[in-house]
Amino acid sequence: MTLLISTTPALARDIDGKAISAQVLDEVREEVLNLARQHIYPALAVLLVGDDPASEVYVRNKLLRAKDVGIRSLEYRLAENASQHQVLELIAQLNADVTVNGILVQLPLPGRIDEAAVIHAIDPIKDVDGFHRENVGGLVQGMEVLTPCTPSGCMRLLQETCGDVSGLHAVVIGRSNIVGKPMATLLLQAHCSVSVVHSRSVDAPALCRLADIVVAAVGRPGLIDASWLKPGAVVIDVGINRITDESGSHLVGDVDYASARTVASAITPVPGGVGPMTIAYLLKNTLIASQMQHEAQVHEHTSASHLMVS
Ligand code: GUN
Repeated sequence: MTLLISTTPALARDIDGKAISAQVLDEVREEVLNLARQHIYPALAVLLVGDDPASEVYVRNKLLRAKDVGIRSLEYRLAENASQHQVLELIAQLNADVTVNGILVQLPLPGRIDEAAVIHAIDPIKDVDGFHRENVGGLVQGMEVLTPCTPSGCMRLLQETCGDVSGLHAVVIGRSNIVGKPMATLLLQAHCSVSVVHSRSVDAPALCRLADIVVAAVGRPGLIDASWLKPGAVVIDVGINRITDESGSHLVGDVDYASARTVASAITPVPGGVGPMTIAYLLKNTLIASQMQHEAQVHEHTSASHLMVS
């Protein structure tokens, strides 16, 4: 009998963000129908300031997906030279509009505009990005609040890949408000031991090699290769970097996919990994926001009728 011994190492399996986001979108579509039976029609307002080409693509995709699942969307565009006052005025108008349930201001904003002032002008109950300090604080305290979409999407990918992540060591690379910090919070809530590695970390690759789960969100194309990974690690690549080389222009992640997949057990490709999950969770958040607002209205109405009879 001849034994065939393969000399090629097993490659990591791909974590299919397209397929998993399609499941999330199906859940959203079903819930939209449920809400319609109660005469609740969720609506999402998306505001783009200026004409950054990458932001244009992201906004277009968000609006298309919203339409796909039956969520009404409203697109607002302001010119590159719009004033902060104009942005704040539009947000005030959307906050006051009871037919609008979610407000998303596409980031980054032109440098003149104070991003924090804009984020904190959004009514926290309509803050479908989960960036308002009230939602950030609530998340850290383990309350049920609107939670940033990309980290929520990454958690779903991990659940589908690993099942229970309790007790695992997760390393988050990057400490942004949009991904790194909320990601670390969600992993902690899921009972992981969490390390956050960043530009000042001493020997980032060595810290990363301790991880069962690696979430990369630094915006540096191909930074993390096989030498950063423990054999069998699960790798979630949040990076979306456009690079141009001899074969043209393409999107790559923060992880060197070809190298990392020789060591990892599972990895998200770019594109087709985390990207579609972000949009799916934005739409899920829009539903959650509209349910929260509906409940708040019912509560207000009930309290008012109590006052009238007492
Ligand atoms: N720009 C890059 N990612 C995001 C995001 O998740 N939300 C918003 N509003 N802008 C972004």
